Amino acid sequence: MDFFNFLEKNLKSIKENKLYRQRKVIKDLIDFSSNDYLGLKNNEKTKEKLLKNIKNLSLGSGASTHISGYTEIQEKLENFLAKFKETESCIVIGSGYMANVGLISALATEKDVIFSDELNHASIIDGIRLSKAKKVIYKHCDIKDLEEKLKNTNTKGIKYIITDGIFSMEGDIAPIDKLYNLAEKYDAVLIIDDAHSTGVVGEGKGSLFHYRLKPNNRIIQMGTLSKAVGSYGAYICGSNLLIEYLINKMRTAIFTTALSPIQNFISLENLKILANEPQRRKYVLQLSKYLAENLKNLGFDIRYFGTPIISLITKTPEKALKYSEYLKQKGFFIQAIRPPTVPQGKSRLRITVSYNHSKIDVDNLIDTFEDIKRKLK
Ligand SMILES: Cc1ncc(COP(=O)(O)O)c(C=O)c1O
Repeated sequence: MDFFNFLEKNLKSIKENKLYRQRKVIKDLIDFSSNDYLGLKNNEKTKEKLLKNIKNLSLGSGASTHISGYTEIQEKLENFLAKFKETESCIVIGSGYMANVGLISALATEKDVIFSDELNHASIIDGIRLSKAKKVIYKHCDIKDLEEKLKNTNTKGIKYIITDGIFSMEGDIAPIDKLYNLAEKYDAVLIIDDAHSTGVVGEGKGSLFHYRLKPNNRIIQMGTLSKAVGSYGAYICGSNLLIEYLINKMRTAIFTTALSPIQNFISLENLKILANEPQRRKYVLQLSKYLAENLKNLGFDIRYFGTPIISLITKTPEKALKYSEYLKQKGFFIQAIRPPTVPQGKSRLRITVSYNHSKIDVDNLIDTFEDIKRKLK
């Protein structure tokens, strides 16, 4: 049967290239791969509040927000986020993936041009594909290259510049101040994906605030509630007019069931902790700096940019898998990241530090990398 042949052939090739993926339940390992930067995904405070309030929260939403699934708790969450991100309005969506795909395809038409960083997240790439806009890829965080491309692109439509705030695999922070200047100069809209910046930089408010910029009508901030917020779902914050437009045009908001009120309750409570406990952010940034410096001193190829994401470049997928397996035997979970998540030749261990890690955890991890250096490098 051709169909099974097709599946088998593809899987065989994935395995031969050391790119085979399996989902595994992680047990009894210290997780240095999670995006739970602030240690909120399992926090007792929110659990206790949830138990107290559970009788007033329905388990599911029952319908899309546009039919009968819009709830008081979602409204509260959206109001909290709008205030936190200093925008007029906010819409909460099922996930970050859905937010990017829905936002970009709702906004950009065939007359428009989207300028996108070459290392933007897959959900941005898919959103651009789904829109009919012209796509122009600029070199990673390269302002010169972007300006050249803006200068040389004529359109009667709208120009969008879109970037991750903190890049998910590199951990570097986009030059939002310079991108904003270009957006002003070339009359473009700037879309920032704060998936990894929310809770981490700019007093927790994200990458725009990291550069001490204020939101305005030229800027759209999206982000996810599933990483530092430790919950699930996503948000888009901007002007009243933008959110009104998205409510009417965004297919991943209209044609999908609303998030569960329980999930929105968790997001709201965790966001309150995130906003009120800056020590979480400070601790995690200090600890990741300490880890990165030590790994660098051991001679590893480290990319560290002052965020909880540290990339240890192995180049080949084989080496990334070998290191990851050794770490597992020693009690650590660090996922090997391989193409197509990162470009060919850039396989790595993506190490993430969390508020839940102790200094001892990190010291033990450094010792294990010292072993790796001696035994495997
Ligand atoms: C930069 C970026 N944007 C969007 C997403 C998607 O967010 P979610 O996991 O909520 O779908 C991710 C998640 O991996 C991400 O890293």
